Amino acid sequence: MTEKLIRGRLLSFRRAPQSLTDTESYSYESDGALLVADGKIAAAGDYATVKAKAADGVEEIDHRPYLILPGFIDTHMHFPQMQVIASYAANLLEWLNTYTFPEECRFVESEHAARIAAHFYDELLRHGTTTAAAYCSVHKSSADAYFAEALKRGMCMVGGKVMMDRNAPQGLLDTPEMGYDETRAVIADWHGKGRNHVAITPRFAITSTPGQMKAAQALAEEFPDLHIQTHLSENHEEIRYTCELYPEATDYTDIYARYGLLGKKTLLGHAIHLSDREADALSEAGSVAVHCPTSNLFLGSGLFPMKTLMRREKPVRVAVATDIGGGSSYSMLRTMDEAYKIQQLLGERLNPLESFYLMTRGNAEALSLVDQIGTLEPGTDADLVVLDAAPTPAMKLRMETIKTLPEELFLLQTMGDDRAVVETYVAGSAMKESI
Ligand code: GUN
Ligand code: ZN
Repeated sequence: MTEKLIRGRLLSFRRAPQSLTDTESYSYESDGALLVADGKIAAAGDYATVKAKAADGVEEIDHRPYLILPGFIDTHMHFPQMQVIASYAANLLEWLNTYTFPEECRFVESEHAARIAAHFYDELLRHGTTTAAAYCSVHKSSADAYFAEALKRGMCMVGGKVMMDRNAPQGLLDTPEMGYDETRAVIADWHGKGRNHVAITPRFAITSTPGQMKAAQALAEEFPDLHIQTHLSENHEEIRYTCELYPEATDYTDIYARYGLLGKKTLLGHAIHLSDREADALSEAGSVAVHCPTSNLFLGSGLFPMKTLMRREKPVRVAVATDIGGGSSYSMLRTMDEAYKIQQLLGERLNPLESFYLMTRGNAEALSLVDQIGTLEPGTDADLVVLDAAPTPAMKLRMETIKTLPEELFLLQTMGDDRAVVETYVAGSAMKESI
């Protein structure tokens, strides 16, 4: 058994923090250690206690004075959009048609997909993200590249071959049958291999015919344990066109409900402009609204009412994500900075404890993977991020006046990026040095 002791300041959440003073919601060890064995956390706590459990001569890695947290989790990304980031468009549909769809056509080439996959995982790890849920392109070759690279790096990843059979260039279309068959092939080839999770991925209602939605429904019925990911209510023009395409549905959310696509493992990207009825429907189904703040600001899509959705009588489950490449940063720290500002504009507060909960345990709960990732609980996978709140002169100067943990977290969120990530561990292995 290969053991190592990783020492530093440990922070892990027990539940969602209710306020800035909710110290019961997390555990914090100012001189803590994790004992890692065979890729998992074998023990966590104060250094002396954990060291006593380790074998004599155990390898020790000392990250003091840095913080050690569970690795960040990103619940909505597009792996084929790395070269779409920073595309100048007026809105979502123009951005998709002008830049995104043409770029995704390139992923029919396995070589291109493999090259971008290597860059994709490099960026995740550089930014301290150890798990993500991502859309591949319509081509099975893109899903093969995505999961092969995850397997190589030992990462826990959710992903899916996109299903789309209309309203896009020919090179980006499948058919209901192809979408079904190729998704099944991706499941057979990759689901459960290493730490890979295949998601059923109809892109959104605009690019799927009713026939393809039925194919997605058949997959959801056949594989009820799989994640489902799609987009919902991101932009007003998108909503209007979607409802025109499905006139029999009550609203956008009802389209997915009619095809049996709303469940506890359904991740709905954006979900900004929901009616009360739609929010009730999501709440009852236990589906997750995935907030993508940098993308929503970049594309001018709208201000996601996160706090309102969370405190409704029928609360909606919420997760956070970068939405690369509509989003403009791979960093979950940058993402939460923008999430904070969106809540400010809505007259709401998002405190830094909540932000760090959301990036770790909250997103793990949203993915129904909290037994494996998102905390520092013994028995879970040793996916970790090591954070320095003073990596730049400006942050170092600000740190001089910081006295509390929430203040330090808030600085990390407000000014931090990949420079704050000292190290990223995947299943107990340090990854940053190799990228
Ligand atoms: N809706 C459908 N496809 C996409 C996409 O690739 N990005 C975003 N932001 N929204 C979408
Ligand atoms: Zn998206």
